[in-house]
Amino acid sequence: MEKPENILWQSPDGKDHLEIYSRVLQRHVPTMEDSVYRKLEKIYSIMSFAYFQNRPEIDSSELDAQLGDLHDNFETGMFPLKGEYMMNDGECELRNALIEGDTNRVMAYLSSISDSDAANKLLEGYEPFTSDDLKSGSNESFDFWAKAGKLGDPNKLRFEEEEKTGVPHIETANDYMGKQIYHTFQEKIKDGDEIRVLDLGGGTGGTTEAIIHWVYECAKRENMPSINMHVETVEFNDGLAKGLETKKELLEAKYSGCRVNVVNADMQTYISEKTALTLDDFDVVSASYSIHHLLNDDKKELLDNAYSVLKEGGLMMWADPNEGKSDINKSFFNLTDEGTFASFTSHEQAKQMLEEAGFISHVASDAPYISEICSEFMSQSETDILMDNCHNHNGFVCIGVKCSSA
Ligand SMILES: C[S@@+](CC[C@H](N)C(=O)[O-])C[C@H]1O[C@@H](n2cnc3c(N)ncnc32)[C@H](O)[C@@H]1O
Repeated sequence: MEKPENILWQSPDGKDHLEIYSRVLQRHVPTMEDSVYRKLEKIYSIMSFAYFQNRPEIDSSELDAQLGDLHDNFETGMFPLKGEYMMNDGECELRNALIEGDTNRVMAYLSSISDSDAANKLLEGYEPFTSDDLKSGSNESFDFWAKAGKLGDPNKLRFEEEEKTGVPHIETANDYMGKQIYHTFQEKIKDGDEIRVLDLGGGTGGTTEAIIHWVYECAKRENMPSINMHVETVEFNDGLAKGLETKKELLEAKYSGCRVNVVNADMQTYISEKTALTLDDFDVVSASYSIHHLLNDDKKELLDNAYSVLKEGGLMMWADPNEGKSDINKSFFNLTDEGTFASFTSHEQAKQMLEEAGFISHVASDAPYISEICSEFMSQSETDILMDNCHNHNGFVCIGVKCSSA
């Protein structure tokens, strides 16, 4: 397979990755559940093995020497090439996200060379990542981000802040969703009917706030002074859910006629419980940059449930990084701890999943990932190379409309 030139991670000595890996892993090790950590380690070992199998030209001894520190820190030894995306032909592409597809491909590859003693030895004790592993890993990651103050201040409303501190591509997606909701439900809003939103993966309230803000703002421009809105925001990270309670107070005080209900739960479990209790309850289900923390089967189950809890004409709004379209996923996101526990989707896959769940779908492209975000994790020169090598930086917003009579 032809490899593009000059991509950051392509240096065979692994120097570029090493620092980031050790940073990511050191963050996790004190808190990560032991069993998840062991699985991660196993998968990395297998992937690294496969990488060297496919790269006999690479002498790994220098790399091993550089690993001294990591090996000392992590008893059983950690490999540097944390994720190698196995292509069907056994070729590898460097990547870190431990997505189902990756591990399945690695397994298929290893079984094709199962007469190798080394491969069999590596396979001993291998267990694939489960839904819960992915969830507990991303929960830990968000804990880290929140505690490091990278997720914004829950005591401040975004639209009142003078200095912009949010993540631009996520904010663009959230703004798009808010405006689209007003546009779709104008008549209802004008009539004073309640708009009911279920926001999955609430975080620090960015999506909830943008939706309320834009519905309120657009209604004001049309001389509708108040809105009638109920937003249920579901967040599984305890610390972030606590922060959302503060946001709720601020939002309800600022936007008359809006009620926010914070639910501290796993969004997949919550929406399936909702479906069991009440059908056709919401006008909108929004999930902004949260669905990529679910495995593919879980995404599908969530979309089926979203279809059930939506009213006729309701919208499922899904924003996420665009796998395969935005090269930056493979480079930046997968080098961060959040990206380690992610399963990205392309907009085509998202559209297809929405349609399989019964929705009529369309796709919009949202804002680019910008270099400022990357440079929080890497040096400016690394960031520059990375940005130069990305052909398309955009994420997607996919909207599914529940339209059963179609
Ligand atoms: C990138 S943040 C986006 C937050 C918010 N939607 C926004 O746009 O500002 C994703 C959030 O989803 C949450 N999340 C991920 N998986 C979840 C799950 N299974 N259940 C509930 N929350 C989840 C994370 O904890 C995190 O706060």
